Amino acid sequence: MTATTASDGMSPEEFREYGHRLIDWAADYLSDPRRFPVLPDVAPGDVRAALPTHAPEEPEAMDDILRDFERIVFPGLTLWNHPRFLAYFSITGSAPGILGELIAATLNVNAMLWATSPAATELEEVATGWLRDAIGLPATFEGVINDTASSSTLYALAAAREYAHDLRIREEGLAGRSDVPRLRIYCSEEAHSSVDKAALTLGLGRAGIRHIPADDRFRMDVSALDAAVRQDLADGVRPIAVVGTVGTTSTTSVDPIAEIADVCDEHDIWLHVDAAYAGPAAMLDEKKWILNGCDRAHSLVTNPHKWLFTPADCSVLYTRLPEVLKQAFSLVPEYLTTTTEARNLMDYGNALGRRFRAIKLWFVLRRFGLEGIRRALREHIRIAERVEEWIRAEPDFEVLAPREFSVVAFRYRPAGLDEESVDRLNAALLRRINEDRTFYLSHTRLKGQYAIRIAIGNLMTREDDLAELWSRLKTTARSLGLGDLE
Ligand SMILES: Cc1ncc(COP(=O)(O)O)c(C=O)c1O
Repeated sequence: MTATTASDGMSPEEFREYGHRLIDWAADYLSDPRRFPVLPDVAPGDVRAALPTHAPEEPEAMDDILRDFERIVFPGLTLWNHPRFLAYFSITGSAPGILGELIAATLNVNAMLWATSPAATELEEVATGWLRDAIGLPATFEGVINDTASSSTLYALAAAREYAHDLRIREEGLAGRSDVPRLRIYCSEEAHSSVDKAALTLGLGRAGIRHIPADDRFRMDVSALDAAVRQDLADGVRPIAVVGTVGTTSTTSVDPIAEIADVCDEHDIWLHVDAAYAGPAAMLDEKKWILNGCDRAHSLVTNPHKWLFTPADCSVLYTRLPEVLKQAFSLVPEYLTTTTEARNLMDYGNALGRRFRAIKLWFVLRRFGLEGIRRALREHIRIAERVEEWIRAEPDFEVLAPREFSVVAFRYRPAGLDEESVDRLNAALLRRINEDRTFYLSHTRLKGQYAIRIAIGNLMTREDDLAELWSRLKTTARSLGLGDLE
């Protein structure tokens, strides 16, 4: 196949040929990803050095581009869509979702206004409505799809700032005003850093956020929250939002949202719930309790791109006060005015341009069906339970946090070592496991202790993957000597 000219990019025939080839390549990858190491063997700068420093002046042949992809780019990737990716939150770009992405890219529609893509707007309403009903949020919550939970939480907290409407922040801003008290957002010490980043972005500063201690199950201590809010009010600080987490990053603990809602109700504070990871688990009867009290939240985020088999990026922000979110963001210049009375999704966040993300979520919900999703979530939880049992059965290992869903946090703890050496030993263990590139794990700190996490969330992960990992973990841990603790 010869190179095309720059003006046509690619002929329809060539697109068909390479499209088929790439679908074959993707199907081959998905049919057996274990052929590939989950982690690349590259040092910083290796990939860049292997690529030309400048873009080509003339069109290049697809064969050459794909050869470089396979030779240089692919081996330099950490494979997130891999059954042995067990780090951070393990995720799945499932086949139906991947096909949804193909349509989104092909049509390249932009659902900024209803009029710029009516079906994309309404499919977003439909798909987020289905998900809302499936996880048991009341129908008063309206959903909008953003790129990430970080954006969704930022937008929710911007709405919270707007909810304190007497401060007139939309009109007057924050800078240079002596009539605005210090504003405060509260979250637990286990909350995700996206909450802190939102506070920074919204001009509240690091002093604008208070981390509330967590209890021994890593849940927000609500009496400490209550005391912090009362103290702040007495000191003239204005509480504007509390962020509760359903499924924290380190341990997947679940904050007591109903009790947090009591505090928020008493002082009329916006309650945002970060259910980015665990939200979909509320589809399971045995896990419905995790969203208890969330009907009283003002907003909630959950990420289909985490534990709902939808390729990144897809984060749903729900709110039962969409008019406040809109008040925070809506700004319509002349060139975006339309005559149609309809919901324009650009009004509910910072981004004007909006990818057609609803299509892949809709494909996933339909192709799996809610029952298919429930089966997959239960299987992940079942495998995680097995892993937990294996760890608990070994006296020189310990589970460091209650396991709520499909994440296990643990450490190797041979007798006779001080805490600092145990930390270093576990850091060495993690390094050894990852150096092998067969499995990818990540770590955290829990109550000061270094913890290794195993996160299960990829549809291709099987119990025998975990059995092999566990065998490696035990052998590697017990082979480590004090010389490994550099
Ligand atoms: C609990 C929680 N909230 C928010 C986020 C941020 O997610 P995103 O990458 O979509 O911004 C994460 C990321 O892992 C998370 O664990």
